[in-house]
Amino acid sequence: MIAVAVAGAAGRMGQAVCAAVEGAPDMELVGRADPALGTTLAEVLGAAEVVVDFTRPDTALPNALACIEAGVHVVIGTTGFDQGPLADARPAPGRPPANVLIAPNFAIGAVLMMRFAEQAATHMQKAEIIELHHDGKLDAPSGTAVRTAELMARATGGEAPPIHSVRLPGLVAHQEVILGDLGQTLTIRHDTINRESFMPGVLLAVRRVGGLATSPTIGLEQLLF
Ligand SMILES: NC(=O)c1ccc[n+]([C@@H]2O[C@H](COP(=O)([O-])OP(=O)(O)OC[C@H]3O[C@@H](n4cnc5c(N)ncnc54)[C@H](O)[C@@H]3O)[C@@H](O)[C@H]2O)c1
Repeated sequence: MIAVAVAGAAGRMGQAVCAAVEGAPDMELVGRADPALGTTLAEVLGAAEVVVDFTRPDTALPNALACIEAGVHVVIGTTGFDQGPLADARPAPGRPPANVLIAPNFAIGAVLMMRFAEQAATHMQKAEIIELHHDGKLDAPSGTAVRTAELMARATGGEAPPIHSVRLPGLVAHQEVILGDLGQTLTIRHDTINRESFMPGVLLAVRRVGGLATSPTIGLEQLLF
């Protein structure tokens, strides 16, 4: 059994992750950290082998550093924070090594969208990205859009495509990559209809984070392809 604690457990994603962990036969939910529940991450760290973080852009980094220091693996879904300091973070003396897996999107369809966009970018002249999310999302542009643009720029050796952000009630998480060339366009679109879409990817990350060859590892695609 993998002992899992969830940071942001009272949030939209955190609640879904807690339910998914409770439903997984090989995992045990050992802690729910969230100011809304009156429980800090420090209080649940001692019991956890893996922490899953779906919090806020301003708390994801301090949370992850606390996990690494305690020798607890961390799976980060939170977007819109500076990941740089994680590369140099080390456990406190006497604590075991801890791995970090960061994925801007845990939905398999979104990972495939990014991959197809990366491939298409090398064949068509120009592209732009439109990402659309619910109006409670704190960061813009989305981590998925930023990652898609990075992958496309790396594939072409050119500039990252422009990103347009839409925030409206009624939306969950959606992205279109529109590529244009002489007399034609190609649109690659992914729609997250509900948050269950992310759960198989989150559970896969929990199962695999302890065995990563490099840390931090960025992108669910590193586990899938
Ligand atoms: N990677 C993905 O696949 C994916 C998918 C959806 C959302 N997200 C990202 O996940 C994050 C959370 O999204 P959400 O919609 O669940 O947000 P939310 O606002 O519903 O939930 C965030 C929760 O974090 C809690 N929190 C704040 N500070 C905390 C701390 N220090 N320790 C523990 N908990 C703390 C808040 O009280 C809140 O309950 C966002 O960054 C969002 O962009 C990622």
